[in-house]
Amino acid sequence: MRKVLPLLLAVLLTGCASHQKKPLDKGTEKEVASLGQMAVKRLMGELKSNLGTALKEGGFPKAIEFCSRKAEELTEKVNKELVVVKVKRVSDKFRNPKNRPDGLDQEVINEFKEELKEGKLSPYKVKKLDGYFVYYKPILVSPFCLNCHGKPESMNPEVLRVIREKYPNDRALNYRAGQLRGVFKVVIPEGEVKGG
Ligand code: HEC
Repeated sequence: MRKVLPLLLAVLLTGCASHQKKPLDKGTEKEVASLGQMAVKRLMGELKSNLGTALKEGGFPKAIEFCSRKAEELTEKVNKELVVVKVKRVSDKFRNPKNRPDGLDQEVINEFKEELKEGKLSPYKVKKLDGYFVYYKPILVSPFCLNCHGKPESMNPEVLRVIREKYPNDRALNYRAGQLRGVFKVVIPEGEVKGG
């Protein structure tokens, strides 16, 4: 028995870690993806339009002030409007510790990174957990993002000063265009999906 118990535990734990293996049926996956995409659009729209306004008002120093004060608040606002579906951004190299990935997030981030390396990045991924679905969409770095996520020596010193002050443990610098910056993550309860 003494030898069996650790083995049994190991099997059980691996079982838990390897979420689900059987593929979702196409109809369910499509429905989850369309709900996920709708939530991502809402959050992206909200962040973009507010960032655009701040940029026009005062360039990147103003925009960085805006991001650091408002990104979290705008995410909460969108989630209140969405009611049951929850959307957020997650990154393995997070700036805000609230955007730290959990185990499944990290797994999916690794999958996307691997795909990107091989030049066949999926537009999204859907995972099924107990009672809910998770929709993931990759976020790529464009040259524009490097104003606040690039090499410190090429960034506006005022922007860098604000980042250092607000995020003493920032990990989101030194990116290059084309890299995976993170993911949008949308949690959708099973009851919201007709086919599921
Ligand atoms: C004006 C500066 C600025 C620009 C430009 C900018 N970001 Fe950010 N970004 C930030 C700040 C500040 C945060 C932390 C926000 C918070 O506290 O939630 C952040 C957070 C993020 C996050 C959430 C994960 C984390 O690290 O906390 C992602 C994903 C992200 N940015 C992607 C991008 C992408 C992609 C672009 C280009 C399309 C971009 N950013 C452009 C300043 C910027």
